[in-house]
Amino acid sequence: MKTLIEKMNKNNVDMQVIQRAGEIIKQGGLVAFPTETVYGLGANALDEEAAKKTYAAKGRPSDNPLIVHIAEYRALEKIAVDIPERTAAIAEHFWPGPLTMIFKKSEAVPYGTTGGLDTVAVRMPSDTIARELILASGGYVSAPSANTSGRPSPTLAEHVAEDLSGRIEMILDSGSVEIGLESTILDMTVEPPMILRPGAITADMLEEVIGMVSIDETILGAESEKAPKAPGMKYRHYAPKAKLTIVEGNIREEVLAIRQMVYAAMNDKKKVGIIATKETIAYYSNGIIKNIGSREDEKSIAKNLYAVLREFDSEGVDEIYSESFAMKGIGNAIMNRLEKAAGHLRVAAADIVRRQKYRRVVFVSQTDTCRGPMAAEIFRQKRLRQEYVVDSRGMVVLFPEPANQKAEAVMRSAGLTLSAHTAMPFSEKEIAEDILVLTMDETQKNKIITEYEGAVSVYTLSEFVEDDTEILDPYGMALNNYGECFEKISMLINKLTDKLNSCAEGEY
Ligand code: TXA
Ligand code: MG
Repeated sequence: MKTLIEKMNKNNVDMQVIQRAGEIIKQGGLVAFPTETVYGLGANALDEEAAKKTYAAKGRPSDNPLIVHIAEYRALEKIAVDIPERTAAIAEHFWPGPLTMIFKKSEAVPYGTTGGLDTVAVRMPSDTIARELILASGGYVSAPSANTSGRPSPTLAEHVAEDLSGRIEMILDSGSVEIGLESTILDMTVEPPMILRPGAITADMLEEVIGMVSIDETILGAESEKAPKAPGMKYRHYAPKAKLTIVEGNIREEVLAIRQMVYAAMNDKKKVGIIATKETIAYYSNGIIKNIGSREDEKSIAKNLYAVLREFDSEGVDEIYSESFAMKGIGNAIMNRLEKAAGHLRVAAADIVRRQKYRRVVFVSQTDTCRGPMAAEIFRQKRLRQEYVVDSRGMVVLFPEPANQKAEAVMRSAGLTLSAHTAMPFSEKEIAEDILVLTMDETQKNKIITEYEGAVSVYTLSEFVEDDTEILDPYGMALNNYGECFEKISMLINKLTDKLNSCAEGEY
């Protein structure tokens, strides 16, 4: 089957195309169309055979019921019975919009559509194309998200084509959807009504209209033994191909933990992705880093989530690390989908951060023109199991000098260079528990300890690696003295590498 893709403009709907699409659905065919939440795969909701086709196209288990989309409130009466009184108030506030309500089904709805259940899920979308299509199709359009079962829901027509091209008759393409996460599902058959799937319409918003609502406890709880009440929620839905880990903590900890885990995974030759935000993206340097939106505007995060997961898929990423997001407003829905995508794989950022004692290593010499910069550059070449920022500083630096020429000559003969180096003075910025300060000799160490309060991680390089080699300053001596100095520093840096690597757990 060739899938026709029709570009549509929301503000100027081409009714001829809508009529053709409506005909396809009336005849039992499948048409994907935009809604404000995600793209849906439309079929005639009152036709058992059309439901079968829908399941086949998506590769979806047939016990997972479909949502019936309507365009007018009165259409509800034909498909639902025992409609509770307050339904009207809810519809008044939230329909058309991203809310699905569950009622007892009428005989008009085949069990094929409801996955064998006696209840039916109903939604009235606000998207104008969706609305016109429903009307042109006879008023009752079943529409699951238009993705292959188990993949992230489509928020662009391209996503639909990626998954369903050749399996459905038509795709109506109006570009990016507005919300990006599926509708809130509210079960109206229980008292108080229960949220089975969080979405853009939140519990607070519903409670303002009808008083108390309850929330299916399986929605976020990774540990829950119970089956979720919406059958679709039990599958490892929305899943990217890569292993996704959600990192939880305060923002600083999350960034540090993700940096650590990404570094370790890349050491293991993994292709790694990071889900970052506008506020944090600048703090990452390794891996494929994606900005999912702004923490100030959770809606932007909701809108980008599925597209970002799909991008990682197409880039063949092995592992994805994601920051976590505030559980306010649509944040509940975001975390619910992320959790599902991650198969509930969560780690506490603080636990990860604690595993790395030092994050920066600063080598300190007298003038920062020879021994310190040599040590730093030799150390930078090592294969380290954790990520360190490596610098050198001098105790007496009067102006930004380049490295000593003999030091540079010795480094060059070892295939290294200090050509980019400029001397910088030691300052209190180098004093912190997670900065390892390694001096060339006792003089610098003593000076730092007496001058700076809280200087706890300060050692001579030899002392730290438990060696008694002295690194004499070769200043003013012959080239071969610089050579000897280089050899000593190299040997000590090897020991330093071993020590830091054996302290690093490496396994996360
Ligand atoms: O935003 C949306 O709701 C999108 C757009 C296309 O409208 N549709 C959507 O459909 O997300 P789908 O099929 O991907 O998800 C429907 C969810 C499933 O988790 C399903 O189990 C649940 O709704 N559901 C449908 N009928 C139900 C019923 N009678 N009882 C409990 N859960 C039901
Ligand atoms: Mg779906």
